[in-house]
Amino acid sequence: MASVKLVNLSKHYDSVVALDRVNLEIADREFLVLVGPSGCGKSTCLRIIAGLDQASAGQVWIGDRQVDGLSPKDRDIAMVFQSYALYPHMSVYDNMAFGLRLRGVPRTEITRRVHEAATMLGLQELLDRRPAALSGGQRQRVAVGRAVVREPSCFLMDEPLSNLDAGLRLQTRAELIRLHRRLGITTVYVTHDQVEAMTMGDRIAVMKDGLIQQCDSPQVVYDAPVNRFVAGFIGSPPMNFMEATVERDASGLWLIGSGFRVLADSEDHALLETYVARTVTMGIRPSDISDTEAPACRSAAVSTIVQVIEPMGDHTVLYLSLGEQRLVASVSGSTQAQEGQPLQVWWDMSQVHYFDPVTEARLG
Ligand SMILES: Nc1ncnc2c1ncn2[C@@H]1O[C@H](COP(=O)(O)OP(=O)(O)O)[C@@H](O)[C@H]1O
Ligand SMILES: [Mg+2]
Repeated sequence: MASVKLVNLSKHYDSVVALDRVNLEIADREFLVLVGPSGCGKSTCLRIIAGLDQASAGQVWIGDRQVDGLSPKDRDIAMVFQSYALYPHMSVYDNMAFGLRLRGVPRTEITRRVHEAATMLGLQELLDRRPAALSGGQRQRVAVGRAVVREPSCFLMDEPLSNLDAGLRLQTRAELIRLHRRLGITTVYVTHDQVEAMTMGDRIAVMKDGLIQQCDSPQVVYDAPVNRFVAGFIGSPPMNFMEATVERDASGLWLIGSGFRVLADSEDHALLETYVARTVTMGIRPSDISDTEAPACRSAAVSTIVQVIEPMGDHTVLYLSLGEQRLVASVSGSTQAQEGQPLQVWWDMSQVHYFDPVTEARLG
């Protein structure tokens, strides 16, 4: 097993900067998720760690070895891709054994490893089948099995669940987490899906335009996103953003925007001080908006009109209009809201995030 360290890693394709001085230390046994929108450089980063691509600058360390210049097979890693690329003419057993045979692993050792991985992944009954006779989820398990038998010091996974339907994705996600708990192999996992990132990662590194924006535990990234991009990317439905002018009077600091005028929480006064008479960007998560009067005196009432109601069973998502903007609220399933009707909602002001409107950095 091994740690992975990226030092000032950059990758340029002509004018495109796919990776921009990425620094990242992944601890031994850690499950790190690289998450970000399509094209932000996740696969590039993983392929450079694997040795499938060369960096333009910077270093990759696996354990205490600098591996730049080593070929993929000498890096002691195993990759799982979105497309499982199994050999169609080989059985499940042979698909898993193939790489080990190429490496000259003794036959008895191959048998042991394949059976052990098959047991772990629930593939024992399927060892004689060809890939064509497997479901998508089973094929992906074989692809994972092929990586597991290598007993690498590090797993690199690039959107391995993307080809599965929603139900299988959930199930396979849980299986991968269990597998990681059991084997404890350092894993770098790439996804564009923030829910996967939140649920799977010990830490998540949020990327945009080849830059790591924030790398921390899922809870810290959710509770204290470093900038507006991270705040909007992590969380579903996404955080609402509103421009507000900050004004002071005897009652405190007011936030005034299209369709609202609310008092800032006294705990936020210090960080809003320099924004008095200027604008600030407010961010509020849909789950921090309620349509029943909150007992907390820290909430602020806002008048909206209900545009669309999306019942989800245990909760309901409301699409509201507030002045000239839209506001999304996630409220109780028993909401009395009616489409086309006015609705008073309450913002939990203690949960509002503030961002500089120019730099988009979090305040405080
Ligand atoms: N072989 C390539 N040639 C030119 N540009 C590339 C190549 N591979 C990736 N890119 C560009 O690098 C950026 C990052 O791509 P990629 O790492 O595949 O993103 P992600 O996996 O996050 O979707 C994109 O702008 C992409 O178009
Ligand atoms: Mg990709």
